[in-house]
Amino acid sequence: MPRDELLDPNPTPEEWRSSHGDVAQDAEIALRSGGDERGLRPRSLEEFVGQRELKERLGVIVEAARGRGQAADHLLFAGPPGLGKTTLAGIVANEMGAHLHITSGPAIVRAADLAAILTKIESGDVLFIDEIHRLPRVVEEVLYPAMEDLQLDVLLGKGPAARSIRFDLEPFTLVGATTRTGLITGPLRDRFGFNFRLDYYSPGDLEQIVLRAGEVLGIEITNDGAAEIAARSRGTPRIANRLLRRVRDYAEVKGHGSVDREAASDGLALFGVDERGLDKVDRILLSNLCERFGGGPVGLSTLAISVGEPTETVEEVIEPFLIQQGLLMRTPRGRVATAAAWQHLGLQVPVEAGESPDVTTLFD
Ligand SMILES: Nc1ncnc2c1ncn2[C@@H]1O[C@H](COP(=O)(O)OP(=O)(O)O)[C@@H](O)[C@H]1O
Ligand SMILES: [Mg+2]
Repeated sequence: MPRDELLDPNPTPEEWRSSHGDVAQDAEIALRSGGDERGLRPRSLEEFVGQRELKERLGVIVEAARGRGQAADHLLFAGPPGLGKTTLAGIVANEMGAHLHITSGPAIVRAADLAAILTKIESGDVLFIDEIHRLPRVVEEVLYPAMEDLQLDVLLGKGPAARSIRFDLEPFTLVGATTRTGLITGPLRDRFGFNFRLDYYSPGDLEQIVLRAGEVLGIEITNDGAAEIAARSRGTPRIANRLLRRVRDYAEVKGHGSVDREAASDGLALFGVDERGLDKVDRILLSNLCERFGGGPVGLSTLAISVGEPTETVEEVIEPFLIQQGLLMRTPRGRVATAAAWQHLGLQVPVEAGESPDVTTLFD
């Protein structure tokens, strides 16, 4: 079962699509949809909470480009889902006063698909390619000269009669988003002027995001309540906003309507989110790792099968947070539970769990 459904028994249509549907459509809906989500998504850099360094640099790039009346350099945003990559693409277009075109790596199957998009672009427009690491190689090769020289070479026809036509493109800014920097080819990465990594948000930043969302959605919420939700949001704004909605439901049905600390902690307990923000799938994964596999090392695919999730979900969504929390390690021989993981599950820590073998980095 996709993890979103375990976390949230009643996902909004947008949430459901983002866990099942095609990514371009998801981004499109995310940026243009009405309802709760539209107001929640910051429209300007100023509204964007946290990621100070990134904001500062991006602010300079955008302002300089605007001052020169040129398209900004191509930008790459990398990091786990829900940290604001799609939001930032929208912000860049907005701050540049430019049109935003949205697509995704898996949606562009042939070079002709890319050509169709690129030839529609007007001067200064922003093209957002979500999940850019999933672009087919043939498409990527067409993208290089487009990014670098604003040239598009399309092959028409087949066999000996085939001929190549060259188009001149209008200046544009490509914004790429990826959950997997390691999977982006060197040549593609080199063609971005800036490469930003988004990190998990601090509890303080998340608290601010929850308070802001409360205001937008008209939810009465105390600082304590926001802090409680923030602490359990896996460092991720998307999850913070989702948990806020669940706690609102809980407060309306079981409490006195307002979201205070008690409503937040009781509500989140009801939905299976623990004090550390781990949900059912996280805990099942850790307890399988500790109890079935003796704390590891165990291979990714074995672990993924044991929780019934695709390996990519385990690798890109579940593990990064567990690693960041110091509960899990990736080693050359497989996944290993740390002493903190055994403790968190209320289990006796075995002696060898205290040692730390060489750990590989998160995304490469
Ligand atoms: N820095 C931020 N400040 C406030 N809200 C944010 C921030 N980053 C993300 N969000 C919220 O989290 C949600 C998910 O962000 P999104 O840009 O879709 O993430 P990604 O594309 O990285 O998966 C958005 O709907 C937005 O409301
Ligand atoms: Mg996105």
